[in-house]
Amino acid sequence: MIPRRLFVLLFFVAFVPAALAADAVRSSAPSHPPGTAIASAHALATQAGLDVIAQGGNAFDAAIAVSSTLSVVEPISSGLGGGGFFLLHDGKTGKDVFIDARETAPAASTPDKYLLPNGDFNRDRAENGPWAAGIPGLPAAFVHLAEKYGRLPLKASLAPAIRTAREGFPVYARMARGYQARREVMERYKGTRAVYLVDGKPIKEGDVFRQPDLARTLERLAAQGFDGFYRGETAKLLLAGVKAEGGQWTAKELAGYTVRERAPLTFKYNDWQVTTAPPPSSGGVALTQMLQILDAYDLSKLDEAQRTHLVVESMRRAFRDRTFYLGDPDFVEIPMKTLTSPYYAAGLRATINPQKATPSDQLSGLQTPLEDEETTHFSIIDAEGNRVAGTQTVNLLYGSGLVPPGTGVLLNNEMDDFALKPGTPNAFGVMGYDANAPKPGKRMLSSMTPTFLESPDKVAVLGTPGGSRIITMVLLGILGYDAGLEPQAVAALPRFHHQWMPDLIEMETDALSPATQQTLEAMGHRFKVPGNSAQGGRGSSHVWGNLQTVEWDKTTNTLMGGSDPRNPVGAAKVVESAPSR
Ligand code: DON
Repeated sequence: MIPRRLFVLLFFVAFVPAALAADAVRSSAPSHPPGTAIASAHALATQAGLDVIAQGGNAFDAAIAVSSTLSVVEPISSGLGGGGFFLLHDGKTGKDVFIDARETAPAASTPDKYLLPNGDFNRDRAENGPWAAGIPGLPAAFVHLAEKYGRLPLKASLAPAIRTAREGFPVYARMARGYQARREVMERYKGTRAVYLVDGKPIKEGDVFRQPDLARTLERLAAQGFDGFYRGETAKLLLAGVKAEGGQWTAKELAGYTVRERAPLTFKYNDWQVTTAPPPSSGGVALTQMLQILDAYDLSKLDEAQRTHLVVESMRRAFRDRTFYLGDPDFVEIPMKTLTSPYYAAGLRATINPQKATPSDQLSGLQTPLEDEETTHFSIIDAEGNRVAGTQTVNLLYGSGLVPPGTGVLLNNEMDDFALKPGTPNAFGVMGYDANAPKPGKRMLSSMTPTFLESPDKVAVLGTPGGSRIITMVLLGILGYDAGLEPQAVAALPRFHHQWMPDLIEMETDALSPATQQTLEAMGHRFKVPGNSAQGGRGSSHVWGNLQTVEWDKTTNTLMGGSDPRNPVGAAKVVESAPSR
């Protein structure tokens, strides 16, 4: 692996733009990529996507195969009991659409249910067990993708996931470690114990992990479509399992779940057209704000400290607005025009002092903690020019920990992404008010930010898990592509983060040189010491993220992938093929 410090260096060196050489070939740019590129957080999922392409499927069929296989092999991160966002690009029409399969709030999950008798926030209820879970969205997304965008029957695209659930796969270190971290919660529930304990012992690295109930649940989905999960046998089991643990879901709200199609957000940054996630993700709005603040600067000409200062100040401002304005657009009026306007960004830029950190409380707010991460992302480009950026989640490690008996489906704990108690930070230290208060059927605000980049020479697809840090990782990834980095280098970039509150720069070990840290401290920035609870740390990790990205270089007509080196079981693969038409 190339040392991280080298990437920092690469990041700041002004790259000789490949664009010079590219100008000559631009007029003869190929209309289609030479094959398929898929990057995901698990090699079995990447392979599932390629297998479906080999059977004549397109990127959207492959997305179902990758997403459903991730749901089987990464229960720690996402699954049928959770939700996700899928950004699609149709190579033929050039159209982009955002598929919102975010979970929705059950009607019973009103804010008062998350308070202790003394009025304090009941964090256990928000994160663990039935009250933590929203109505799942991912299974509905598979059905929607297959019916509207895929070429193969749902059955074919779900086949690899069903096989892997039934035959099993080797437990990897991160999965076993995550289980230990969540063990106390997981083992509270009978249905979860039945899946994760073998002869009374928890799964460990190297075990073959089989999920026969999940295979059957997937089969019902494959055979009956939407009704195979949201009505009938599976729905019955889900409702009974939630009820048995004291939760309250209704058959009506399960059967009433709908995927939403939304227009993605788009804006220009330097030569790039950026296409990204609209609300109920907060990621696209924040990216628009941050990059429109930053596009007035030539970052490649600045030293590390000056550049980091400006990037951090843009992060701080975007996260302040996230806190107050963003929520489910079906329920709240979001001042989108203002928030995404270049004039508004110019106004925010004018409040940045180039020499000094702006204390976050001058932008108003409270003190908050941060947490570690799960969720998963995959990126696909196929030979027809179709693209998918998919980010999906059950929220925290193994979601709510609850598997309703007989389903194999681990339910999410996405309710914690609502502002359950106004102004009280959630597990990622971000908070909110009315815009993100829970209401029956409302989607909780997300940070998931599946994104496309397109310039005259290149197309890139990227995204990552990481809670609120998703947004800043995608920002740094875009800046990396803009600096000329290749996908693997983008996935490996060292990371830093600021989210307005707490008013601290958090960074991976060695992400910034000691000299830069000193300069930034002299400018008034403060750094988070990992795990320091006095600063609100809850075991914050020293590295974070799991960025998966693919790129099509039109000047050379080559595909490349980048899979985050922090995750040893991820895989980016490219397969050359003639486009099927
Ligand atoms: O939607 C969101 O923003 C969160 N539920 C994502 C959770 C996540 O990335 C977990 N990993 N840190």
